[in-house]
Parts: sequence; C-alpha cells; structure tokens
Amino acid sequence: MSTRILGIESSCDETAAAVVADGREILSSVVASQIDVHRKYGGVVPELASREHLRQIVPVVREALAQAGMKLADVDAIGVTQGPGLVGALLVGITYGKTLAHSLGKPLVPVNHLEGHVHAVFLEAHKAGRSAKLPAVCLIVSGGHTVLYEVKPGDSNAQDAGAKLVYRKLGQTRDDAAGEAYDKVAKLLGLGYPGGPILDRLAEVSNGAPAPVKFGPTKMKGNALDFSFSGLKTAVLYHVRETAEYKDEIRKREESLARGERKFEQLFPLCGPKTLGLVREFQNAVVRDLVERTLSAAEQLSAESILVSGGVAANSQLRATFEARAKAAGMDVFFPSRALSTDNAAMIAAAAYSRLRNGILADVTLNADPSLALA
Ligand code: KG4
Ligand code: ZN
Repeated sequence: MSTRILGIESSCDETAAAVVADGREILSSVVASQIDVHRKYGGVVPELASREHLRQIVPVVREALAQAGMKLADVDAIGVTQGPGLVGALLVGITYGKTLAHSLGKPLVPVNHLEGHVHAVFLEAHKAGRSAKLPAVCLIVSGGHTVLYEVKPGDSNAQDAGAKLVYRKLGQTRDDAAGEAYDKVAKLLGLGYPGGPILDRLAEVSNGAPAPVKFGPTKMKGNALDFSFSGLKTAVLYHVRETAEYKDEIRKREESLARGERKFEQLFPLCGPKTLGLVREFQNAVVRDLVERTLSAAEQLSAESILVSGGVAANSQLRATFEARAKAAGMDVFFPSRALSTDNAAMIAAAAYSRLRNGILADVTLNADPSLALA
C-alpha cells in the first residue's frame, strides 16, 4: 500500500493542496493564486492574503481530494507548511491542517517551505525518469527568497523519496529577493505585476536594441556566496529618472495597465528600443549573479548536480544559462516545470513524506514560524 499525503500550502499568496503518493507520484495538485487580488498594489498585501486563504482553503482541499479520487479518510498523513512566510497566511493552512489531522486521527507533519522547493525539483526529475545525484547545490529563487543550500544525503539511501537529507545554507540575499527585484523594476517601468514573466519575454525580443546602460557584477564583502539585488534595482531607478525619453512610454504603459491591457502583446508595442535594451541589461545582471554564485558554490563543493527552484526558475535565460554552464562544468542541472517552480502543495506533500519517514511529526500545539530556518 502506498502512503498518500495531503499537502497544504498557504505561506504567501497561493492557497494550495495536493495529494502525493510515496513522496513522488502526484495524484492531484490544486493551486488558487491570488495574483489578481494583489496586482493593483504591485505586491502581496499580507492582510488580503490571509483573507483570501480563508476563503479558498476548504474548496482547494476538497478539489485536491476529488481530483485524486479520494476521501479524507483515505489520507495517511497531513503535511502543512510551518514557515517561512507571512504569519497570518501560514496560520490559515496550519489551523486547517491541525484540525483535519486531529479529527481524522492521522499524523501531522510540519514542513519547511524551502525544503518543499527542494522537493519540487525531485518531483519533476522523477516525472522525467531522472534522478538528481547528491551532493547538490540548490538555488531557491522566488519573490520572497534567494538562497543557496548544499543538499547532502543524511543516510546511505539518498535516492529514496523518504531519505533523510541534510541541508547547509551557503548564502542568501542581504536585501531584495531576485523576484522582488523583477517585480520592482517592472513596476517602475509601468509593466505591471508580477514583473518576472513580462520582463523575461521583453528581454527575449530585445536583440538589436543597444544597451542604454551596463550593470557590473555585484561584489559582496564577507561571504562571496551571498546575493544583493537592491543596488541593481536602485541603479535602474536612477537611470530611468535621469533619462527623459522613458517618461512618455511609462505613462502610456501605465494607461494601458489601467485599461486592463497588461498582456505582452499589448505592452510590447509600447516599449521602445531603449526600454528593451534596459530590460535586457537588467536581466543579464540578475542571471549572471545567480548563475556565477551557484556555479562557484557547486565547484567549491564538488557537487554532482545543480537544483534550481522557485518562481524565478521559470526564467528562460536563467534556464538556458544554467544548462550551458553546468554542462561545461560536467554537472547535471534540474529545474521543476513552471507549475512546480511556483508555490504549490505537491512539493509540501513530497517533503512531508521524507519527514514522516524520519519521524518528524507535530501535534496540535504546532504554530506558524514566519522566519523558520532550513539550516
Ligand atoms: O515562487 P513564487 O510563485 O512566489 C514566491 O515569491 O514565493 O515566485 C513569484 C516570483 C515573482 O517575483 C515573479 O516576478 C517571479 O517569481 N517570476 C519570474 C518569472 N516568472 C515568475 N521572474 C523571472 N522570470 C520569470 N519568467
Ligand atoms: Zn515559495
């Protein structure tokens, strides 16, 4: 008999539930995104996030069970995100998960959201019939996180979905997350929210546009594996402020957004070559930083694989650059699909399986930990 875990995720702006068998087979995965609620504020508003989670949690869990063809009584354990994240948002999932576990008499497994992102990569690899050899270096890069971990086997059975894994933090952002930088730069350029997908596509079509500015690599004092993106964001801001030509275009795009016209096809005609060149230079700088530091960590640690997870892992240039650089360095690189890159509950259920197998359980006293560390 397989072990079927119901995963629940509510740490930020996605209410998600999923059922995963034996830590690797996704039986269902349902995500209710709140992007439309937060869009007009240009970022996630914590109070609104909690309210939306409250509205969504019951239907999302029901849908996940229905898609898996299961009833609550068929669930073997409940895995829920304990942190890190927004405290009010986390509490919705935790309270619901605790209540379900208690009333069903099933084990409750507390999951670190970041460990979930690591497992998202394993889920995808499993689907593709691949397996990521350890030790690995894992870059988790999203709107809330930019952090680099070493992932090592905690016992000899490293390829098993229930294996114990050991994490060591190698570096992290000292200010903005990379996704946050994308979102802020898109906002100041009048390109809407979230910023990553549109900037990614604009950079793709920027060939031939001259570079209006160049951004050098960010040097870090102390830990050379730390990241920083707020300087880059400020450099973009100053450059835009000092260059009169951007003003008119930004106003036109803001008017387009106000009319609800925020698609790439609608915004692209409102972007001149200067804007395209600027977007490309910004993305070049972000991608260079993420790739260089991750590769340097992987080389230092003689890692077998590189794992990249989180919303920004969907970025096409980041993927292509990692593929090329990892290949040249003789390492395998793994990314989740887009659906598994962004926040979801399948990754939480997968991480919960390993924790369950290693006896990491919680009881009804489980509380949210907004700054829960993985290592
Ligand atoms: O993981 P996620 O859904 O939510 C959390 O932040 O936890 O990631 C969302 C972030 C946003 O900042 C968004 O702009 C960014 O991921 N993003 C991208 C791309 N798609 C989403 N950034 C760069 N390129 C993309 N294609
Ligand atoms: Zn996340």
